[in-house]
Amino acid sequence: MAFKLKGKPKVYVTRLVPQPGIDILEKECELTFWKSDEAIPQEELLKNVRGVDGLFCMLTDQIDKHVLDAAGPQLQVVATMSVGFEHIDVAECEKRNIVVANTPNVSTDSVAELTVALLLLTSRRLLEGVTAVKNGEWGAWKPMWLLGTEMTQRTVGILGLGRIGYGVARRLRPFGVRKILYHDVVSVSYASDVGAEFVTFEELIKESDFICICCNLTAQTRHKFNKDTFKKMKKSAILVNSGRGGVVHHDDLYNALVNGDIAAAGLDVTEPEPLPASHPLISLSNCIVLPHMGSNTWESRNSMSTTAAKNILAVFHKEKPMGEVHV
Ligand code: DGY
Repeated sequence: MAFKLKGKPKVYVTRLVPQPGIDILEKECELTFWKSDEAIPQEELLKNVRGVDGLFCMLTDQIDKHVLDAAGPQLQVVATMSVGFEHIDVAECEKRNIVVANTPNVSTDSVAELTVALLLLTSRRLLEGVTAVKNGEWGAWKPMWLLGTEMTQRTVGILGLGRIGYGVARRLRPFGVRKILYHDVVSVSYASDVGAEFVTFEELIKESDFICICCNLTAQTRHKFNKDTFKKMKKSAILVNSGRGGVVHHDDLYNALVNGDIAAAGLDVTEPEPLPASHPLISLSNCIVLPHMGSNTWESRNSMSTTAAKNILAVFHKEKPMGEVHV
């Protein structure tokens, strides 16, 4: 469809983002930016969104009623450069006929790869090994030093068998795992492709040796892993979270790791983010915390940038964006 708007539509980009997305937008839009790699303060966001037709935002930006009010009634689209969209008040956008779009698909492989890496890092105690070498603690070979757990013949539980959960399952099969269990809001037909078996949440936490959290943060998943959950898990269980930090109650996780309710945890996402360096979880040798790096690859970040840009243009062109999301 021909692109007919009076003048170029205005788009505000809330961060320095990979150039390919900017190249796409620049051809058709008047762009302004928050020219920093650091998150825009909310008061700056409120000032800078005035009069824009499109908003290209990040998962660190709170797109609430105040931001929408500040932008004004001409705002047509909020495109986030992320899969997660819990930072956007989607209901409020829908009320105002503002399209909300995310970037599904394009970071599936990077996040699935990182989830498997985190699982190996944690189960094989690799970081403890690296630290020991750096600290000069590597002495003669010892039969009982830094022993971890193999994935071979273990049961893996996945919470959330969406694209990323499926990608994790597919990558874990060749490790020779015994079973892959999953829990989600509904059972999915493609689970059989990776031999994943739908179970209740209770079964998932009781039977799994490794649990990967690959779900979104919703009212149903918030603090799903809390002290009651940890008590029901195997004492040898390892928990990995590459979904959203809020799915895990972090104080309860700390107690579970210290009390031996579970063996170890690997977190790429935390609550809050960033997790302060003084947080007790960071002091534990059986907890690895990464700084939300799941999609940190050139491939994913370039695609996330182009997808968010195309989503904005799609709305201006009165087309359906690839990642339209609803309440
Ligand atoms: C997303 O896309 O939501 C990821 O968490 C960013 O890596």
